[in-house]
Amino acid sequence: MTTFNKLLDMKGRLCLITGASGSIGSVLSETMSELGADLIIVDKDLGKLNKLKKTLEKKWENNIYSYECDIEYETERKKLFRKINAKFSNLNCLVNNAAFIGSSKLKGWNEPLEKQSLETWRRAFEVNLTAAFHFCQLFFPLLKISKGSNIINISSIYGEYAPDWSIYENTSINNPAAYSVSKAGLNHLTKYLASYFAPNVRVNTISPGGMKRNQDKQFVKKYKNKTLLKRMSKEDDLRGALAYLATDLSEYVTGQNLRVDGGWGI
Ligand SMILES: NC(=O)c1ccc[n+]([C@@H]2O[C@H](COP(=O)([O-])OP(=O)(O)OC[C@H]3O[C@@H](n4cnc5c(N)ncnc54)[C@H](O)[C@@H]3O)[C@@H](O)[C@H]2O)c1
Repeated sequence: MTTFNKLLDMKGRLCLITGASGSIGSVLSETMSELGADLIIVDKDLGKLNKLKKTLEKKWENNIYSYECDIEYETERKKLFRKINAKFSNLNCLVNNAAFIGSSKLKGWNEPLEKQSLETWRRAFEVNLTAAFHFCQLFFPLLKISKGSNIINISSIYGEYAPDWSIYENTSINNPAAYSVSKAGLNHLTKYLASYFAPNVRVNTISPGGMKRNQDKQFVKKYKNKTLLKRMSKEDDLRGALAYLATDLSEYVTGQNLRVDGGWGI
């Protein structure tokens, strides 16, 4: 029987995380570092990435490579791929985490449906769904030849469940249609690719519930009451799910959506 230590060991493996310097991305990056993986961290702001790289390398003594890339643009994605493909001969894990989220400051985004703009809808699809598809397509050859390789798409409970508008009443918080619908697309992309890339590369989804982040008190109260565990999520809640899906602990698991939502959706 293989020991848990061995199953969890990511030493010698390389993991690419998009949106790595964001709130969840930095916790995912720390988790993979603690498991011993080397990392390629990708985001829009090189300064923030390098800060994260310095902190994590000092703490975990792994190798971290930071790349600035605006994943909204096909040319930028291809440029990133060319750089990585030229430098590395393996890629064991790809985490598609970057996204426009509910609180992103975009025109025609955090608005009632009637005011949500087509331009922002298209941009959200490009970042939340098309970029993930494109990275999976570009990096598949590298993943295919690497040990224990897998893809993890970070979705949301809203990829599966319609919003309950009563929790948003009298708040400035909203839930743009493009967010939910792009995440629903990501959920299906996981299943499609799990089937297409099998048996070489496993593909799974993690669907987090809402993170507690200074939201309106009434919103938090109503949100908590909709979960079985009676609280909003914190970034650390995702560490176990990532460790399970990214490592050999889950080597017989593909095409799944692991909800980490305190029992919001059952
Ligand atoms: N915050 C929540 O409550 C919540 C709940 C469920 C799921 N999620 C999902 O978790 C993931 C991370 O969300 P978060 O809460 O950490 O958000 P965040 O805004 O803190 O982090 C997102 C990161 O993605 C990056 N990013 C956005 N657009 C990009 C682009 N065009 N190119 C490169 N990088 C880009 C941002 O710069 C940021 O660092 C997202 O996929 C989100 O949908 C979040």
